Amino acid sequence: MALYPTYPLGTDRLSLRPFTRGDVDAVYGYRRLEAVARYLFDVPLSREECAVAVQQRISQTGLTEVNDKIILAVELNQTGTLIGEVSLIWRSIEARQGEVGWIFDPLYQGHGYATEAANIMLDLAFGPGDMHRVSARCAVRNEPSWRLMERLGMRREAHFREHAIFKGAWDEEFIYAILWQEWHKSRQPGQTTSK
Ligand SMILES: CC(C)(COP(=O)(O)OP(=O)(O)OC[C@H]1O[C@@H](n2cnc3c(N)ncnc32)[C@H](O)[C@@H]1OP(=O)(O)O)[C@@H](O)C(=O)NCCC(=O)NCCS
Repeated sequence: MALYPTYPLGTDRLSLRPFTRGDVDAVYGYRRLEAVARYLFDVPLSREECAVAVQQRISQTGLTEVNDKIILAVELNQTGTLIGEVSLIWRSIEARQGEVGWIFDPLYQGHGYATEAANIMLDLAFGPGDMHRVSARCAVRNEPSWRLMERLGMRREAHFREHAIFKGAWDEEFIYAILWQEWHKSRQPGQTTSK
């Protein structure tokens, strides 16, 4: 089954929409920072590299084949400011597996925006996307990222120790995941997603 959502997706505070060419400066505003790149596979990006990244993201709005990605710009409804991005990758069609990810501008961290946007991506994956399990991965030292996974109701499934070299040093990685039935239970009346 292919997934082509109708955009924007959103909440009272946020709109998730496809990237446009006009987003390059906003993306450069946070992707140029070492604090943002520290746990990403990328190094801090130049403006030109951000322009290439945005160009790629413009068409990453649906899932047809394995490893296709949906990468959406997250905008504040009140100001129209682009504050970050969230992604959903189709990891297996047969086993209905997805993977979520996030990158936010430090100016807008600490308000629950990443949790809110990532929850929309889980709703997309388990609702219209009909996925069975959604995972996320991060460096063990990236505490803001794994705490976000826990706020989403994901379970820590693995701790890989020294399984790879990352930026010149041994990598330590956590894998988190949530199953359809766990997500469904969390969406029942009376259940709250923890802060
Ligand atoms: C990972 C990342 C997205 C987490 O951002 P974040 O701002 O900590 O996450 P949220 O937007 O969900 O905000 C949560 C914080 O806001 C607080 N908060 C305030 N209002 C909130 C609300 N309504 N709902 C939830 N949390 C709220 C929470 O208490 C939490 O603060 P704390 O960390 O002091 O406990 C961010 O650190 C980031 O972009 N890092 C750089 C890129 C990166 O490493 N990406 C991941 C690669 S694996």
